[in-house]
Amino acid sequence: MKVEKMTCTIGAEVSGVSLGEASRSTALADEIKGLLLQHKVLFFRDQDITRAEHVAFARHFGELEDHPVVGSDPEHPGLVQIYRNDKSDNFENSFHTDGQWREKPPMGCVLRCIESPPVGGDTIWVNMAEAYRNLPEDIKAKIENLKVKCSIEHSFGASMPEEKRHALAKANPMVEHPVVRTHPETGEKILYACGFATHFANYHTPDNVRYGQDKTPGASMLLNYLTSQAAIPEYQVRFRWKPHSVAMWDNRCTQHYAVQDYWPAPRKMDRAAIMGDRPF
Ligand code: SIN
Repeated sequence: MKVEKMTCTIGAEVSGVSLGEASRSTALADEIKGLLLQHKVLFFRDQDITRAEHVAFARHFGELEDHPVVGSDPEHPGLVQIYRNDKSDNFENSFHTDGQWREKPPMGCVLRCIESPPVGGDTIWVNMAEAYRNLPEDIKAKIENLKVKCSIEHSFGASMPEEKRHALAKANPMVEHPVVRTHPETGEKILYACGFATHFANYHTPDNVRYGQDKTPGASMLLNYLTSQAAIPEYQVRFRWKPHSVAMWDNRCTQHYAVQDYWPAPRKMDRAAIMGDRPF
């Protein structure tokens, strides 16, 4: 296996390995997991594997989960089909960590390109441990014990008819997560606020709020500041897709953004999301 770093902070391209073979080898999968913890997102080219191999590879790392809004391959449950051929049905062009609206968001994902547009459609990943490390110390102190409320309703649900949106919210109630989470395997502290966060759950303390305007817009200005950190290029890597390219990311310490600059060309991706633990 050859491993080449793609930036100073995040991402490595791994060559000389077949994920089909890795789908049948625990030793190989363990080696890849070690690289993932080190680089946070791994890229593999020319992985002409079957959907069953894609699923089997991802299953080395945990159970897979379907998505409440985006459908899965009927023959391969857990393999979510992010198939875009219309500008109106995109949800991925916002910095986010997958499933932050779940109590236990996925620990990682394996995304394989089925069809790429001739130009555009790149994905950007961000190292959110680096984003946390670089925050000013006074901000770190302020957010140390803060919690955010996260919901699927105001993102995936927003364009739905009201009844359908309410049903989505009922089936996926709002959850609360720490703004600074700790990586369960590396111990790194991670800035864990993204577009799925609606507001802080516990901002309104005497230290933070003397008058109404300290809370509104004070709290939302802080939340906007935190979520905007993912847009800093020094924390990012950008990947150009080709058919059979694969990206695997550690969803606990990264965010990503699929750039929507390719329409009307289609873009088709199969994604296996691996179940994770409750953030702490
Ligand atoms: C995602 O947001 O999980 C998918 C990213 C992509 O399609 O590039």
